[in-house]
Amino acid sequence: MTTSCQTSGKRVERIGILGAGRAGTALARIAAESGIPVNIAASRPPRMLKYHLMQYAPQAVAVNAEGIADGVGLVVLMVPQEDLDDIDPGTLAGITLVDATNRWQQEELPDWFEQGLRTGLSSSEVIAGHFDQARVVKALNHISHWDLDSFGRKSANPRRALGLASDYPEDALLTAGLLEALGYEPVVLDSLADGKLLEPGSAVFNQHLSASGLRQLLQL
Ligand SMILES: NC(=O)c1ccc[n+]([C@@H]2O[C@H](COP(=O)([O-])OP(=O)(O)OC[C@H]3O[C@@H](n4cnc5c(N)ncnc54)[C@H](OP(=O)(O)O)[C@@H]3O)[C@@H](O)[C@H]2O)c1
Repeated sequence: MTTSCQTSGKRVERIGILGAGRAGTALARIAAESGIPVNIAASRPPRMLKYHLMQYAPQAVAVNAEGIADGVGLVVLMVPQEDLDDIDPGTLAGITLVDATNRWQQEELPDWFEQGLRTGLSSSEVIAGHFDQARVVKALNHISHWDLDSFGRKSANPRRALGLASDYPEDALLTAGLLEALGYEPVVLDSLADGKLLEPGSAVFNQHLSASGLRQLLQL
């Protein structure tokens, strides 16, 4: 069973984005447009990142990666999967962690990631096992940075739907509220394992769908 929660999502006050590349800065821009303050971090230090942000996400606040969870309602993970070993899981302890990552073609993955995938887990379940003190929600992975940025998403009728999956209902609701505030219609799947249905190669990946169209393609 899925839930479409057009009006029931909670409002998040400030978000953290880990990764300030194509996806991270696109999310930072639309969050700013939607009145949601953003802290953002990359592998380079804030004093170097701020020049990049001047061009790509001028309203976002550059912070250290180690402090990305400080003072935010949730953190969105937008770092390439091959770089995940460079992130100390302790820095993401106790928070809602929105996993927006995908494997890019034959991107080399950390050993723990390869091993987890071999057991048949969804990629977000493997991430949840590694960042085991965070409450993981899979979301924002099946839309490209171009589409994320798209003009008119709030006025589209029906709105584009984005799926999300988690084993934590409260965190799923918080993430649904974020998607809604950004101008999308959230469709909540039952479990993090169901997040497999949103992975690259799935029927819904990169597809522009309404909530009913998304549910239909997910066959749920
Ligand atoms: N691009 C899309 O359309 C899209 C859409 C949905 C999901 N995604 C997923 O999002 C992830 C990022 O994709 P992208 O296209 O945005 O990649 P990208 O343009 O290459 O940007 C990667 C960012 O991650 C940062 N980074 C690397 N290691 C880090 C670390 N240890 N701590 C903090 N930041 C670190 C980099 O920092 P520096 O800037 O300092 O190098 C850079 O800002 C991928 O898993 C991708 O599959 C991408």
